[in-house]
Order: sequence, then structure tokens, then C-alpha cells
Amino acid sequence: MDWIIAPVGRLQGTVAVPGDKSLSHRLAMLCALSGGRSVLHGYLDSEDCLHALDAVAALGAGVEREGTRVVITGTGGRLRTPDGPLEMGNSGTLTRLLAGLVAGYPVEVRLQGDASLQSRPMRRVLEPLARMGADAVSLPGNGCAPLRIRGGRLTGIAYTLPVASAQIKSAMLLAGLRARGTTRVVEPAPSRDHTERLLAALGLPVRRDGAAVEVDGSDGEPLDIPARDWPIPGDPSSAAFWLVAGAALPGSEVTVRQVGLNPTRCAFLDVLREMGADIEVSGLRETAWEPQGDVTVRGGAPLRGIEIGGARIANLIDELPVLAVVAAAARGTTRIRDAAELRVKESDRIATTAAMLQACGVPVETRDDGLDVAGGAVIRGGGVIASRGDHRIAMAGAVLALRATEPVTIRGTACVATSYPGFIDGLRALRPMG
Ligand code: S3P
Repeated sequence: MDWIIAPVGRLQGTVAVPGDKSLSHRLAMLCALSGGRSVLHGYLDSEDCLHALDAVAALGAGVEREGTRVVITGTGGRLRTPDGPLEMGNSGTLTRLLAGLVAGYPVEVRLQGDASLQSRPMRRVLEPLARMGADAVSLPGNGCAPLRIRGGRLTGIAYTLPVASAQIKSAMLLAGLRARGTTRVVEPAPSRDHTERLLAALGLPVRRDGAAVEVDGSDGEPLDIPARDWPIPGDPSSAAFWLVAGAALPGSEVTVRQVGLNPTRCAFLDVLREMGADIEVSGLRETAWEPQGDVTVRGGAPLRGIEIGGARIANLIDELPVLAVVAAAARGTTRIRDAAELRVKESDRIATTAAMLQACGVPVETRDDGLDVAGGAVIRGGGVIASRGDHRIAMAGAVLALRATEPVTIRGTACVATSYPGFIDGLRALRPMG
């Protein structure tokens, strides 16, 4: 499926983005362990997150879904071996976190996924889980999916992550819940902390100690995980497309309502402000577990190229393709560094982001760990941006096309359904009438 995106002068209006993907994944898994009935409000009804529901159902949880309202009846910690392999689709998060979740239970689970998932590095979770005592292997033997996890008795370990990755950290914390003793994960830089917040909200023994997060395990005993209602805020990574589009189109005013504002996810807002964008947060609500609020951008403020690197990269890693798009609208060059992790996302996002920009005539230079984007070039329309099966490249490409001289074709947009099925409706809603 292709989109033909016509340029627009400006965007105007208010949108709500769908529920947070990271939170939807984590809630599906933890509610499946609880002893009762949990209700998730605003669950992300995207392909990746529907795979998460199917997976926990196959492990024994009860799942009822009506749109974005999901009721999960937990297993009380009695997971069962699924009848067949679990489909992870395109989701690295689901694969890695689920590998950790099941590792402490007496089950055998196979995790398989699409071509992109089969090329993504899984040793990063298999290795620490094996050290904890799980039989966790890559079936092809190349460190990639399909994976087979035979869970069992685990022992807590202290482990320093080789890269700042919330997925590895979370896999270990979830495994650590059932291990003997304490599991301690040291992060080279702070990554998103949704798992820690969620475990704490559930009353589980998790704590931060400087650069480390620790969880005390139950040594195979059942966990006492309460069932409850969970409101899921909008996904800031989805909001980023509209906020960048509004910042780059003078005369725009766009408000995204009820966006998750967890500081470990919102470094892109600081970057936009540093580039000169007019961003305002209102109605900030510090709920017991995840803050949320409304974010408004007003286009027209002059934007300047900046350096984006260092520890904050982990807190804006998913927004880098669309930040590269705003960089093209800025004065001067934007330098993205320390972002080698982009190479192992749903696509090699250093290569695919550069190709997206080049398809519209934006000068870009790539490096091993990032890219330089020259601002101020005319965005040439008439061409084709290939998503390469990567949802964020398709959507970032569409945002770039809004400022082009002519319509741009975005090739291969079915992948957008993995994270933001209503993206095109959102775009329609924000185009000014007449
Ligand atoms: C995620 C963590 C990030 C991010 C991914 C979702 C999560 O990956 O890129 O989209 O939900 O934990 P890493 O932590 O591996 O960088």
C-alpha cells in the first residue's frame, strides 16, 4: 500500500494519539500474571500490541477486547506452555520482554516474527537470561528469532547492560521477579523507565540505586500481583509526528491531547525547544504511575540546527527519524551522534532516514553512529520514499512530504499499522479546511 502525500501550507487543530505502545506491551504481560481482572483503557490497537494480547492468551490469560478497552483475566502466575509458536510480528519489544517474562516459569515458549524481527539482535537478552539459569536460545543459531525459551528456576545476577536499552533492562527485571535473590541491572545511560514504574505501582520490590535498578525475586513462589484499572496515556512517539510537522510549517497550531510525558520519553520535546520550536505543555497531570498532559506547537518560530547526542539519545531514540525531518527545516546542520542503536531497529534507521531525506533532495551524510542533516534545502516533491517496512520511516516521510514542492509517494505503508493505524486519519483531521 502506498500513500501520495500532498504538501500543505500549515496544520491546524487538536488530535489525540493512540495509547502508548511500550505501556500497552508491558500491561498486557503483567496483567496476565495477576490474580484477577484488569481493565486497560486506551490500549494501543496496533498489530504489535494485538500480538501481545494473543501471546498472553496463549499463555493462559483471559483476554476480551472492544476497541481500545481490554479486559485481561490473569493466570495468577500459572502460565501454561502454548500449543504452538507465539507470533511477535514486527515487535522487538514484545519478543525481548516476553522472553524475560516466561523465563522464570516452567514453560516452553517459541517466539517467531516477521523478516525484520528475524534480523534483529536477540543475544542481548538471551545471554543475561541464560546467565540467570534459563535455557534461552536462538533456534537458527545466529542470535536472532525464532527463539526458544525453556523457563525454570532462575538466580538473580548483577549485570551491566552493553547498551542503554529498556528492552534488555525490562526483560531482566521481569525474569528477576521469579528469581532467587536480587537482580541488579546497571544502565550505561538512563533508558525509559516504564517497567520500573509499573512494578512499583503493583507493589513489587523494585528500586533504583544510582545507575542501577534492582528487583527482589520470589524464588519461584507465586507473585502477588493485584488486578486493577489502568488508563494508558497517548504515545509520545506518535505525538512527535504532529509536533514536528507543526513546528516545521509556519502558521500551524497543533495540540496533541493526553500525551504521556514520562521524562525518559520526552527528550524530543527538549530538542525541539532547543532548535527554537514554540512548544507548550498544559494540563500536566502527575498520575500515580505515568505523567500526562496536552502539548501544543505553534509553527513559524525560526529553527536552528543543533547537536543531538550523548546520554539523551536513549530518551529520544524512536523520534530520531522525525527529528531528522525537522532538522531539514532548520538553519544550519543538525548532527546526530551516539545513535548506533538506530542500526538495529525495525530497519537500519541511519540508512533509511538518510534515504528518506535524500529522496526529497535533502543533503545528508551518514556515520556509523548517526547522521548530519543540512537544513534549509528545498524539499523536492515528485519522488518516492520507500518505508523499507519501517513504520516510523513511513510516517516521518509523510511529515517531510508536507513541506515538499509537489506530492510525494510513500511506498510500503502497511507497516504503519504496527504502531499507529490511524495516522492518515490524524493527518486529515489536521489539514485546514478550504
Ligand atoms: C522500547 C525500548 C526501545 C524502543 C522501542 C520500545 C520499550 O528499545 O526503541 O521502540 O518499550 O522498551 P531499546 O530499549 O532496545 O533501545
